[in-house]
Amino acid sequence: MDLEQLNDIAIQMVAHGKGILAADESTGTIKKRFDTIGLTSTEDSRRDWREMLFRTQPAMNEHISGVILYDETLRQKAADGTPLAKLISDAGAVPGIKVDMGAKDLAGAPGEKITEGLDGLRDRLNEYHELGARFAKWRAVIEMGREGDDSMPSPYCVDVNMHALARYAALCQEAGIVPIVEPEVLMDGDHSIERCYEVTEYGLKKLYEELYAQGVQLEGTILKPNMIVPGKKCPDQASVEDVADLTVQCLANCVPSAVPGIAFLSGGQSDEDATAHLNAMNAAYDLPWALTFSYGRALQAAPLKAWKGKDVAAGQKAFNHRARMNGLASIGEWTPELEKQG
Ligand code: 13P
Repeated sequence: MDLEQLNDIAIQMVAHGKGILAADESTGTIKKRFDTIGLTSTEDSRRDWREMLFRTQPAMNEHISGVILYDETLRQKAADGTPLAKLISDAGAVPGIKVDMGAKDLAGAPGEKITEGLDGLRDRLNEYHELGARFAKWRAVIEMGREGDDSMPSPYCVDVNMHALARYAALCQEAGIVPIVEPEVLMDGDHSIERCYEVTEYGLKKLYEELYAQGVQLEGTILKPNMIVPGKKCPDQASVEDVADLTVQCLANCVPSAVPGIAFLSGGQSDEDATAHLNAMNAAYDLPWALTFSYGRALQAAPLKAWKGKDVAAGQKAFNHRARMNGLASIGEWTPELEKQG
């Protein structure tokens, strides 16, 4: 596929006022989410949950540009026999697929992880393309050491993860699939916002070095980074403005303007923080890339609680609200007052 087609898909993924729904929880992770509402995770209950989300209007038509799916979901059909991927494309959104095989212990680096899944990836990508996926996701996980311990993450851990991300991205483009490259610096721990900045900056610079070295065409990629935030246990929490300013500063220093869009992960922020931070960046800055959301928990936690395994109307109402709030944040037009209208 040529670059123009990849670029068209990437632009569609960050269309004005829209962002990405990350619904690609592995079977293990979705079970944990369902446990919180006392629902047994089965193929059918997972299908019902996701079908409910993908049929939500106007959220899907107006605020969702793409949906990241898990392998099982891309192959699943709605209760009436329609493929779930078709529900997504019928709503004008792009179906995507998580292709990494998860973060495993990194040899020789206790406590650190490397994301696996490159073996056989070329064949899997070709199959996913036939099944309708037009973009993919690969998440690298960078764990932080205790505040003051600069030995973690090690450069070794960051470097091999960025190398793997670039190998994945090159294979995606060969298959006509837009790679979302996701280097996630975790917000677990007590590290400061400055330390998050430092590690994120190192990782992003490495990432773009590797993407260049491996011939990845940036116009056909989307970046999915963490925001610059202090660790959840850091005594010194940051204001919305500080998070927005430092995140924009870090991205501006690292991400070439050829990248069409940046779609943040929520990473364990509260729903409202994830929205307020995104909004503050878009309200205050004129940026070279579209800046939007690719949220999992920050889009799904509220609808899951409202749905409880059976209440479709309540689940869709909550999803409509979160999708609208984040859609507004992606163009800097969200306010705390709108948030309360629920
Ligand atoms: P969260 O928004 O819940 O961090 O999930 C996004 C995601 O896709 C993580 O890989």
